[in-house]
Amino acid sequence: MKFTRLTPDEAAELIQNGETVGISGLTPAGAVKVVPGAIARKAEAEHAAGREFKIALFTGGSNTQEVDGALSNAHALISRTPFQSNPDMRGHINVPDLHYYDQHLSVVTQNMRYGHLPKIKTAIVEVCDVTDDGELTFTTGANNAAGFCMLADRIILELNTYHSPKIREIHDIYLPQDYTERKAIEIYRPWDRIGTKTLKVDPKKIVGVVETHLPDGVKPFKPGNETTDRIGRNIVAFLEHEYQIGRIPKEFPPLQSGIGNVANAVLAAMGESHILPPFSMYTEVAQDTVFQLLKSGRCTFLSSTTITFTEPLMTEFLENFDHYKDRILLRPTEITNNPEVIRRMGVISMNTALELDIFGHVNSSHLFGSKMVNGIGGACDFARASSLSIFSCPSVAKEGTISAIVPMVTHVDQPEHDVDVIATEQGVADLRGLDPRQRAEAIIERCAHPDYRPLLHRYVELTPAGHIPHNLEHCFDFHKAYQKTGDMHNAADLM
Ligand code: COA
Repeated sequence: MKFTRLTPDEAAELIQNGETVGISGLTPAGAVKVVPGAIARKAEAEHAAGREFKIALFTGGSNTQEVDGALSNAHALISRTPFQSNPDMRGHINVPDLHYYDQHLSVVTQNMRYGHLPKIKTAIVEVCDVTDDGELTFTTGANNAAGFCMLADRIILELNTYHSPKIREIHDIYLPQDYTERKAIEIYRPWDRIGTKTLKVDPKKIVGVVETHLPDGVKPFKPGNETTDRIGRNIVAFLEHEYQIGRIPKEFPPLQSGIGNVANAVLAAMGESHILPPFSMYTEVAQDTVFQLLKSGRCTFLSSTTITFTEPLMTEFLENFDHYKDRILLRPTEITNNPEVIRRMGVISMNTALELDIFGHVNSSHLFGSKMVNGIGGACDFARASSLSIFSCPSVAKEGTISAIVPMVTHVDQPEHDVDVIATEQGVADLRGLDPRQRAEAIIERCAHPDYRPLLHRYVELTPAGHIPHNLEHCFDFHKAYQKTGDMHNAADLM
């Protein structure tokens, strides 16, 4: 290899105060492992010496403790975008002591190309192979790595030999042209290959290579429980009915599934259906459940931007690579989440909410209108463009003291127009073709917890006139009651 070998600390030395840095990774898959920690240590040393040191950080989305945790704890960040899910970083965002701005994942690299966002000086990306003429093989994630490499002035590679270069067989790298020159993205089915297996960059841009040999370290998700299992079964029963009456075509459209425990339970239930045919997935993140579905044959093809498998399943996948390699494609997030492709293929999207209101607006990012949880990720990319947009969550949180169904959400990520179906463990509300009052009736009766139904009905009855029966004096009574007393049931005293 002709490139300069660097230690993590030497790589960190190249990064200057105020720089904009693009780091690969969406989930731990494809995330760089060692250079961010060295940048965090450099920041701490600079701060101790009384010097300013911060970088503006772009990633593919949620990243690891070594990236988001270390850099935010070291106060090494001016800003951070897009999606994150790190508890330490969340704490810093909510102080706030760093500028965090959320974006649809499909537009991050596009916004950079169009000049809406600062130009990247350095891309730090994980590869498992690099040739002397600058051909890069990415590892278990495509995320924004290709976009960052093309946009950056210079590239630092983490060459991770833990992953075999044969993984290039499942990469399909394609970046759209800018507008006026842009052509159609010719994906008609999830398995259509439109790009290349490797990314060719100008080798002069590669300023150093840091060698590693580290697994992604994906943590197992929390096991499902009775509530998440019931949500999964409710959604699958709904889809089975739609399929049987012909509202879903015989060739089942590709599925997108969001993140979190509920999303996993829904996929697991899809695996058990005897009515729905085997299905393909056109999605953003694939966790263990998806691997199980590929293994059982229920999922026939996976297009994703990462494969976020825990170690035992990643080992199984790599040991049987020849069996799976023609059933998986990893694409840049700009393509996996591209609304053009999602709408063309009629993807069915299934995402998770924190709270929903009785008119169908979804909040999946902020608690009580203020505290950031994770961000929107790709949920909006999929929800608006999909043929059927489903949102789900448990009907109550915090031992029943919080109703997830409220009169008005305190933050809107998906407006009512992008939400077709709502599911909780109580049941499913099909909102298609319903006006706001009809929606309220359906959501309260089918999805809200029975404890909260009378209160929600009482809210609607406060306002007999108007298209949407909102009452500005009382629309946040549920939230106010929780903040004052620790229990939304006490909204009864306010209405
Ligand atoms: N009010 C206050 N707290 C609430 C709440 C509400 N309405 N609903 C849930 N919570 C709390 C839970 O009690 C839990 O708290 P804890 O961590 O103290 O136990 C926490 O919020 C997370 O809830 P949980 O049910 O465990 O969430 P999840 O793992 O199913 O994830 C989202 C749900 C919405 C946070 C997650 O799906 C997300 O980040 N979505 C946005 C991005 C997205 O959809 N991407 C998909 C495209 S790839």
